[in-house]
This record gives sequence, structure tokens and C-alpha cells, in this order.
Amino acid sequence: MTTATTGNVRLKKWVTEWADVFQPDHIHWCDGSAEEYEQLCRALVDSGTFTRLAEAKRPNSYWAHSDPGDVARVEDRTFICSTEPEDAGPNNNWRDPVLMRAELNALCAGAMRGRTMYVVPFSMGPLGSPIAHIGVQLTDSAYVATNMRIMTRMGQRALDVLGDGDWVPCVHSVGSPIEPGRPDSSWPCNPDNKYIVHFPETREIISYGSGYGGNALLGKKCFALRIASVMARDDGWLAEHMLILKLTSPAGESKYIAAAFPSACGKTNLAMVVPTIEGWTAETIGDDICWMKYGRDGRLYAINPEAGFFGVAPGTGFDTNANAMHTLSGNSIFTNTALTSEGDVWWEGMSDAKPARATDWRGDAWTPESENPAAHPNARFTAPAAQCPSIAPEWEDPAGVPISAILFGGRRRSTVPLVAQAFDWQHGVFLGSIMASETTAAQQGPVGKLRFDPMAMLPFCGYNMADYFGHWLKVGRATAGNKLPKVFIVNWFRRDEAGRFLWPGYGENSRVLKWVFDRVNGTADAIETAIGYLPTTGSLDVAGLDVSDADITELLSFDAAGWSEAIPQIEEHYAQFGDSMPIELTEQLHKLAAAL
Ligand code: GTP
Ligand code: SPV
Ligand code: MN
Repeated sequence: MTTATTGNVRLKKWVTEWADVFQPDHIHWCDGSAEEYEQLCRALVDSGTFTRLAEAKRPNSYWAHSDPGDVARVEDRTFICSTEPEDAGPNNNWRDPVLMRAELNALCAGAMRGRTMYVVPFSMGPLGSPIAHIGVQLTDSAYVATNMRIMTRMGQRALDVLGDGDWVPCVHSVGSPIEPGRPDSSWPCNPDNKYIVHFPETREIISYGSGYGGNALLGKKCFALRIASVMARDDGWLAEHMLILKLTSPAGESKYIAAAFPSACGKTNLAMVVPTIEGWTAETIGDDICWMKYGRDGRLYAINPEAGFFGVAPGTGFDTNANAMHTLSGNSIFTNTALTSEGDVWWEGMSDAKPARATDWRGDAWTPESENPAAHPNARFTAPAAQCPSIAPEWEDPAGVPISAILFGGRRRSTVPLVAQAFDWQHGVFLGSIMASETTAAQQGPVGKLRFDPMAMLPFCGYNMADYFGHWLKVGRATAGNKLPKVFIVNWFRRDEAGRFLWPGYGENSRVLKWVFDRVNGTADAIETAIGYLPTTGSLDVAGLDVSDADITELLSFDAAGWSEAIPQIEEHYAQFGDSMPIELTEQLHKLAAAL
């Protein structure tokens, strides 16, 4: 296989030290070439991990299905190892770093026996961008290496940018050495012994036992959010769980909007939205992560640190997200979807017509009469962002794009209106800090449970969330008022008593984006309420929308009773942070309670 080279002595030494611990049979430095990708894929087909899809259906694409015990992020096995527990905060599982290192060293000893250790250098962000950062992941999973090639700028070019500089060390093992004479599993992992560990003070990551998604593709949540949030706090920028989109009005004016929604709450869909309102266009910059640093003009500029989409498959179809469907028409990897008898993939919500016969995500025969869904609810596609028809031409601009508005959204069947604008930055930080959302299949554990998920960062903030709120407030103080993005809350997921969605969502969300755009320009009307500015019925464009007046009224009404009821829970949510809680936010809460 072709191989990458570097003159970075410290990097070579680090790789050798870990190889001594893991004892792999081989070491391969990934150069990121197409030939290398093909060879890795071929090896994965041979080992049974990948099934190549029919070339006529989906060229250069593969299907994989995981161990049933390794299907999503594991929050209860995710650890922040700061010296002081207070620095991890009540939002994280803290472990003593010295004890954790000892525990991991014991687990990692010989863990790659019988396997190849891949050295995967990658850039989070356009190569050489002042907003980007370099990481190097060690992994014993060729599946992870192939996914990293789609999700990041990976290989020799990342090493060239690194030179003899610093990188974020990302160590990953599936924790399943091959015993001599025993066949390997098609999805090696260690389902009962997973560790997703972060050392924020030394900016290091060690992940053991899982091969799935955010547990294993360490550039994504572990680096670009948990470690990067710490880097951002220390160096004065923001690393957020946000999509970035470009919205252009009929007059040809463009604005960039970032939006934080929790996992499986609509980021990919909004990032690729096809507006239903005449004359407006939307383009995609990123669908999951947003790094914002100050530009020379004092505004916040954002990049998408990723190069691909690791998107939720179920619910993705031509009627809901056509841009995603086109993006994954080839050169993609599908994990835990179903495989049809014609050699293509399928999932619930992809099409009304179901395949007559398929292999489900567990690898069992499936027909429409089967009781279980064909795809796992957290089935995912890995697809190159460059293939997205709505990708904006400037998506790889190393300077980033200036952000005009930030949206915070959750999955809420009640209380939270369709949209509201915060009074100012500080109030926006307050609204972000009290965000709650119903849990989804993106993390292992119960689904549909309402929990506080401030700024959609609960599982991703690498330090004490009270300090994170303080950091957001500091960004507000450090930025001239007219240069700060305007802050909004949104909720696509209001329901009636029967469980029916009040808002059609998807493309119709463009109506809300239009109101946001006009509010930024100061041209849309609003009513002041205790929780912010709500649209007047006339200011939200509902022309041609098939939603009853009663539903619109409900979506845009201020639910004083619902918010009053929530106050004690919000107080409890704040109380867990004790004295670390910024006084400005406690005051905001008192003000809201008093106004109610
Ligand atoms: P992560 O990749 O986990 O961070 O998720 P995400 O925030 O990108 O969520 P995504 O866009 O993949 O949507 C998750 C699920 O929500 C899918 O099943 C979508 O079909 C559904 N969804 C997205 N937007 C809407 C909407 O506007 N209304 C409704 N009702 N459902 C939506
Ligand atoms: C999320 O859970 O928010 C994801 C998927 O984007 S994963 O990469 O698995 O974290
Ligand atoms: Mn996400």
C-alpha cells in the first residue's frame, strides 16, 4: 500500500510509543489516496465488514452492519479527565486522569495484536485555514480509516500542513485483539467495555472498545467538540454543535446562519433545506459542527471543520431531504441501514415503497411483514460534503463565513414556540442555557426523555458547563454589539394532544429562516413577551402553507402557563452548577420568573 511520510520527530516517536503498547502486527501511515481507499475497502469486503453495493445502483459504495451492542454514542462511558472534578462539571463523567491512564494502559496493552495500526493524520477544517486544527488518530479499524477519509481532509496533505507543529493526539482501538487460530468478527468491538476518554488539560483523546460513529471517528465529537470547546475557551473562540447555512433573499442578499440542535433533531435537514417560499435559496456550509473565530473586522467567522456528512439515514428521503439523497448517490458508506436483494440500501422513510426482500441491520432476512424495522433508528450514511448539490461555493473558504444569526432548537412537544428572538446576546445565552430536548436514538439509552441540553452541547462540552456559559457571555462582552449575531430559539416539533406535528417542518422551515433574516435586517414585526420577541401573525410568511389558523396561533403563542411550570425545573438545572453559575444568567432567570 502507498504510505504517508513525515519529518515530525515527535509524531514518529508518539506512534512508536503507542505501537509498543498496542503491539499491532503492522503499522500503516495513511496517505489519503484513492488507491489506498480502494485497498482498504477491498480488505473490508474480504473480512466481511463491507458489502459492496451494486455499481449500477450506488457506485463505489459499501454497506456495513455493526455489532448489536455498538450502535450509538455511549454517554455513560464518556469521560472527562481533568485534574479537578469541578473542571469537568456536573455535565460530565469525571475520572481522575492518573487512575484513568493506568486503567487504559492495562486495557491497551496488546489490544491490537493480530491487527494493523493505521496512523490517520487529518485536518479539521480547510487545509491551512487559520481556523483549522490538525489531529492524528491511531486506530486498528480499517472501517474507521475509510470513514475518516470521507469525514476529514486526511492523509499526506494534513501531514504537510502539520510540518513539525502540534497535533491533537487521538488514540483508538476497538479493543478486540485477534486470537491466533480464531476468525475475526465482521464488526470487532468490545461492547461491554467501552471507554471514550478525554484529557482536556493535555488535549488528548483515548477511545477503546467501540467502532461506531462519534465513539470512534475521533475528529468529530471527541476532538471538534469536547477538546475543541476547551481550546476555544482558552483561546477566545467558539466550538459548537451547529449546522451552518447560507440564505439568500429574492433581492440577492446573503446571510449566514448557524443553528444548534441536539443529536437527531434536524441539523442535517435544515443545512440542506430547499425553501418552499418563492425566490429564496439556501446553501449548505456544514451540517454538524461549527468553529467560529474572530475575523479582522471583529465579526465571528465560521468554518465547517468536517469534509463529509455522518447523517441519520431513517427519515431521509427525496420528499424530506432531496439534497442529502443526491449527496449519497455514490462514494458513500452506509452503516446499520438495510441491504436490499438488488444490492442497494434502504431505510424507513427513504421511500413509501418498501423492498420486497432485504437484509436488516442485524444481518437477518427482512420483508415488509417483519415486526422489526429494517434499519436501526441510528443508522447512518457517510458521504462527501462536496457531493451535496446545495453545497455553497465558499464552504471551504479558509477565512470562514460571517455569522449573522444563531438559532437554538430542541425537540419539544409543548411550551417552546415555533420561533422567538432573544432580547440581546446575554438573553440569548440564557435561552440557550435553559434549552431542553427529548432524547433520540443518536445516543444509547431511553428515547423521548426530556432533558436539559444547553446549546445542544450537553454530551459535547469538554468542561464545566457553567464556565461554558461564562465563556459565551465573555464572547458577548468582547464583541461590539452590532457585530454580534442575533440569537433565536426555534422548535419544529410542537404536537397536539393526539401526537400530530403542528408544523410541517423540512422545506417549510424556510419561512422561519425568512423571518430570522428580516429580523436581522430590522424589517419584520414582532411582539415582545417574557421569553423574547415572537412573530406577529402577519410577519411570518404563511402564503400557500397548508396549516390551519388555529395551529399557527398555537405555534406562535406565548405559553405563559407552560413556562411558569418549567421554572422550578430550570432552577434545579441551574442549582447543580452551584456558585460557578454566572450571576447574569441567574438574574435572567429571576427576571423571567418575575415577568411570568
Ligand atoms: P445528528 O447527526 O445526530 O447530530 O442529527 P441532526 O441534528 O443532523 O438531525 P437530522 O437532520 O438528521 O434529523 C433527525 C431526524 O429528525 C430525521 O429522522 C429527520 O427526518 C427528522 N427531522 C428533521 N427535520 C425535521 C422537521 O423539520 N420536522 C420533523 N417533524 N422532523 C424533522
Ligand atoms: C450526534 O450524535 O450528534 C452525531 C452522530 O452527529 S455521532 O457522530 O455518532 O456523534
Ligand atoms: Mn451531531
